[in-house]
Amino acid sequence: MSTLFLSSKRLNAMTTTSKKLSSARLTQPTNAFVEEFTASVQFDHRMYKQDIKGSIAHATMLASVGVLTKDECQKITLGLETIATEIDNGEFEWSIAQEDVHMNIEARLIALIGEVGKKLHTGRSRNDQVATDVRLYLRDMIEPIRSELFRLQEALLAVAEREADTILPGFTHLQTAQPVTFGHHMMAWYEMLCRDAERLDDCEKRVNSLPLGAAALAGTTFPIDRELTAKLLGFDRICLNSLDAVSDRDFAIEFNSFASLLMMHLSRFSEELIIWSSAQFDFVDLGDAFCTGSSIMPQKKNPDVPELIRGKTSRVYGNLFNLFTLMKNQPLAYNKDNQEDKEPLFDTIDTLLGSLRVYADMMSVITVKADNMRNAALRGYATATDLADYLVRKGVPFRDAHEVVGLSVAYGIKHQKDLSELSLQELQMFSDQISDDVFEILTLEGSVAARDHLGGTAPNQVRAAIQFARSQRKS
Ligand code: ARG
Repeated sequence: MSTLFLSSKRLNAMTTTSKKLSSARLTQPTNAFVEEFTASVQFDHRMYKQDIKGSIAHATMLASVGVLTKDECQKITLGLETIATEIDNGEFEWSIAQEDVHMNIEARLIALIGEVGKKLHTGRSRNDQVATDVRLYLRDMIEPIRSELFRLQEALLAVAEREADTILPGFTHLQTAQPVTFGHHMMAWYEMLCRDAERLDDCEKRVNSLPLGAAALAGTTFPIDRELTAKLLGFDRICLNSLDAVSDRDFAIEFNSFASLLMMHLSRFSEELIIWSSAQFDFVDLGDAFCTGSSIMPQKKNPDVPELIRGKTSRVYGNLFNLFTLMKNQPLAYNKDNQEDKEPLFDTIDTLLGSLRVYADMMSVITVKADNMRNAALRGYATATDLADYLVRKGVPFRDAHEVVGLSVAYGIKHQKDLSELSLQELQMFSDQISDDVFEILTLEGSVAARDHLGGTAPNQVRAAIQFARSQRKS
């Protein structure tokens, strides 16, 4: 998780007195509250590394095309590196009067290195600067997100492997449907996360495009080399239209869409874990480290982590709608509205990273109560479809077989017996096609083992799916 938040003490200490890099066009000072209201340094300071990296690349490019001298570029670079160290060490004095991370750093650069610092902003605007910083920041955060997602997938593969033979009832409508293996169930979650990982890769392509060079909106009169800036900053592409470059926030929305889908998956897993850890199901133990007690009810062990993940899913959806709504009325090109893109984006990044981390840890220690799951699968006539399929194999049309089994189940309910507990004589009351080879298919093990095809729940299919998944994984 990002550790770049300033402590509140440091935020309070933000000064409003430093000399503003203000516009000569304005004759009156900014209203003090407006200054604070319009500032973004309170939250955009977390992009300082990216801002400095972008500025060094910009200066290097300007020197390479002859707009700055080598010496000027070197002074600017050294100054910016000093500022990075000051910020790293908590020695930098952030100022609300300087509005945002960009102007705070530029003002400090000028204070440190003098006149030459004023040349850094040549051929650039905060509009292309901020768009670049946000992309660089998001790109940097995609890496840890990807690795936490990867870690969660690894944890799921390990549980799936360990529990490839463990049987639980599979549900439709939350009613017992057919027996499935726990490994198969884990691999269903794994599949969802594979799609999420693909979406992240895809989104990253569009994040990794360089806006710098668009300047305020129309480009610049200086002979800039955008290919070089892109290369220096590790961008794969360049935003090809300057108006679009400064106003585009699609990449942030795409990332938040990816995050919303992933959180939706985590929320669904959470829902299952909450149900499974209830006294009524009692299928899993989440581990004490991931639960809390109640302040009044001594017996309680609450599944707080999955509940909170389910809750946090809503804020990520909220952030997505925040960004969509932020963009929908904006004419080209940059508008100050865009300053509002950062908090939802940062919140989504933090929430997602935290959620993945805690989930990966939790799934690494989850324990499964195989007996309880097995007993639950024995209730609810989970092998009824197997009996119908058995009759079909003996030549009975499926619809007739369905009816025979329906009658057998009704009889079982009346006499409080599972299908496997009925005698051959009892079963034969419903069809003369039933013989004593029926019992092997009525067991839970027989039922899961029979679903032995690609994507089926049979333990050897689960093992094959795990093996295939591992062969596909990049490390
Ligand atoms: N703090 C601003 C933002 O986050 C930076 C860009 C300001 N540009 C401007 N023309 N006022 O969007």
